[in-house]
Amino acid sequence: MSHATTWGLGDYPRMAGHLLPAAAKTVHMAAIKADERVLDIATGTGNAALLAARRGAEVTGVDFEPALLSLARSRAEDESLAIDWRVADMTQLPLPDCCADVAISVFGVMYAPDHQAVAAEMARVVRSGGRVALTAWLPGSFMPALGHVLAPLLPPPPAGSEPPSLWGDPQYLHGLLAANALVVSHDQTAHLEMALPDAGSATSLLIETAGHLVAERARLTREGRWQQLRQAVAGLVDESAKPTPDGLLIRLDYRVTIAERR
Ligand SMILES: C[S@@+](CC[C@H](N)C(=O)[O-])C[C@H]1O[C@@H](n2cnc3c(N)ncnc32)[C@H](O)[C@@H]1O
Repeated sequence: MSHATTWGLGDYPRMAGHLLPAAAKTVHMAAIKADERVLDIATGTGNAALLAARRGAEVTGVDFEPALLSLARSRAEDESLAIDWRVADMTQLPLPDCCADVAISVFGVMYAPDHQAVAAEMARVVRSGGRVALTAWLPGSFMPALGHVLAPLLPPPPAGSEPPSLWGDPQYLHGLLAANALVVSHDQTAHLEMALPDAGSATSLLIETAGHLVAERARLTREGRWQQLRQAVAGLVDESAKPTPDGLLIRLDYRVTIAERR
């Protein structure tokens, strides 16, 4: 599969720059070592893949959005890092069984409509005794709240798809992983802060980096509701942002979960 997706419509790479500390935290908690075979699932612009490759790991990065993967490829080339990039859906990885020592996914597998399918796929590709490291937004934190305020303006999720927010609920996640021979060894909550000059720039960043919002712009403008979307985002920024002498900080809370493949 190599067609464009909504993830390629906005300026996601700008958001990926803000999310880099979460990838660093995940790679650190996964304790990636040189020569380990690491798979970064839904790699986007390659944040976690590049961090793992810098540790000397043998890395494969998978994503279904060709535009993001092509940015990931040029970032790796700039550093002469040899990473195997694959355009593929994360529920059908073009990889053999037990091919990885570690599978990582930073804000990635949480977007699979079918949670069981992607959990089974991770379990299939990780060898027995290998590790899985997953990062998801914390329920009730800024990113899920953004999804909540925007939901009335967006098309409903495809029938049968399961909410991404469940991946941040430890009880749900531990159960999903356990059902797929992945036993949680530890997890940790953490946060990162996005520093922005003012509320207007924060609002623009959140809208312009989200391909699924950019995809709805023409329709919402036609319906006279695009400003409503902007106001919904601005309202959440006003409620949540912390002022600083240089502008403001938006705090993004997440959980990193490490599991071992039985
Ligand atoms: C929030 S971004 C995270 C990207 C990257 N891991 C990071 O830390 O910046 C989510 C990524 O999931 C990818 N994605 C979403 N659904 C996917 C699917 N079914 N198969 C493969 N990739 C998918 C998107 O293209 C996007 O790159």
